[in-house]
Amino acid sequence: MLDAMKILVVGGGGREHAIAWRLAKDSCKPELFCAPGNAGTEAVATNIPVSAEDIPALLNWAKENRPDLTVVGPEAPLCAGLADAFAAEGLRVFGPCKAAAQMEGSKEFAKEVMNAAGVPTAKALVFSDADAAVAALDSFSLPVVIKADGLAAGKGVVIAQTREEAEAAIRDMLVDAKFGKAGSRVLLETFLDGEEASILALVDGEHAVLLPSSQDHKRVYDGDLGPNTGGMGAYSPAPVVTDAMLPEIKEKIILPVVRELRRRGIVYKGVLYAGLMIGKDGAINVLEFNCRFGDPETEAVLPRLGGAFIPALEACIDGTLEDSLVTVRPEAAATVVVAAGGYPGSYAKGTPIEGLADAERLADAVFHAGTKRKDNHVVTSGGRILTVTGLGTNLRTAVAKAYAGVEKIQIEGAHYRHDIAHRAFEREQTAG
Ligand code: AMP
Ligand code: GLY
Repeated sequence: MLDAMKILVVGGGGREHAIAWRLAKDSCKPELFCAPGNAGTEAVATNIPVSAEDIPALLNWAKENRPDLTVVGPEAPLCAGLADAFAAEGLRVFGPCKAAAQMEGSKEFAKEVMNAAGVPTAKALVFSDADAAVAALDSFSLPVVIKADGLAAGKGVVIAQTREEAEAAIRDMLVDAKFGKAGSRVLLETFLDGEEASILALVDGEHAVLLPSSQDHKRVYDGDLGPNTGGMGAYSPAPVVTDAMLPEIKEKIILPVVRELRRRGIVYKGVLYAGLMIGKDGAINVLEFNCRFGDPETEAVLPRLGGAFIPALEACIDGTLEDSLVTVRPEAAATVVVAAGGYPGSYAKGTPIEGLADAERLADAVFHAGTKRKDNHVVTSGGRILTVTGLGTNLRTAVAKAYAGVEKIQIEGAHYRHDIAHRAFEREQTAG
């Protein structure tokens, strides 16, 4: 018998648990490793105590253990050149090289590529000098969007409602270095109105296959109130993205970017995630690109993929991607994030988690995000603790299943949103 395929998943959040869980479903039964993983990935993979950002240590492990494939979850190691370092050792990696990961690592670079490729996006100007940026506010109407150029863990965007807020955001970034080097250049951007959606596209350097649409919930409280988070839940498909829009997204957004990068000598392989703003008139604009699977979108999208998953990832590396490699199940999916008390501000760690077995019985998957094992108990170790996914013949049954699981979880002080997929339901009501 052939040895099982060895796959290393880099990262330790809900997204990486969902990736490992989906890889484990392939009939070839791969041998999975997760660096660093969490208390949930242990069920399907061997956890390796190496940080997702420690590229030399990851490379050492990979040189010794020779995984057949490495799948990278988070953006930081991709932007730092993990794929380049692995490829130089003859290791196969699913995820873009450092130059391609700039689509997420530098908003200025992404704008430049979009503009050159004719991809619809908000008008933006870039500054490294605060006084010049403040003066340029005159040419923008309110609200105006101020963005740090570099990676700022999702916190580098301010939607300023007043001139004072805009000036304060500019000074925070350019004078007080609130985001360090990531904020040493800022973009002033026109505010776009509409409803957001996420499209994750598999890309092999030339071809692209869109995975099913999804929608994240960035604000911490019900009704989209409160501060932004890493994402409090997601669902798929997102009806704001109609079937008619999908070819447009592929032909006018994803492929032009891939071609423009190629023209610059950059081959994009991996997931290209387009964060879209869809206007009331159906106009589609790009808010941002990410160089990886979204979190928590992945926890709703991957459970919807049928058939084998590994061949699609390998085809991205080999340049042989085609539509037939991705099968989408008809069920809808919803995922609800259970977060620690205080998140997205400061929160406690080490709180015991109860009810996991019951939640797993009622929902389709309980992905661990910020958990670890302490003695024989699972305890919290992050702000987003779990993300619970339900599948259903329609979105309502998927959402009900996810919440049936969530309601079994007991973690002191934890909170979650009760209205995941509300925009889809409001749309149904307006239509019907
Ligand atoms: P980004 O990291 O660029 O996706 O921005 C984070 C969030 O800020 C997005 O998910 C949107 O909610 C919001 N945002 C970013 N750019 C704009 C824009 N031009 N107009 C309106 N909202 C925006
Ligand atoms: N859910 C947003 C992101 O992954 O960036």
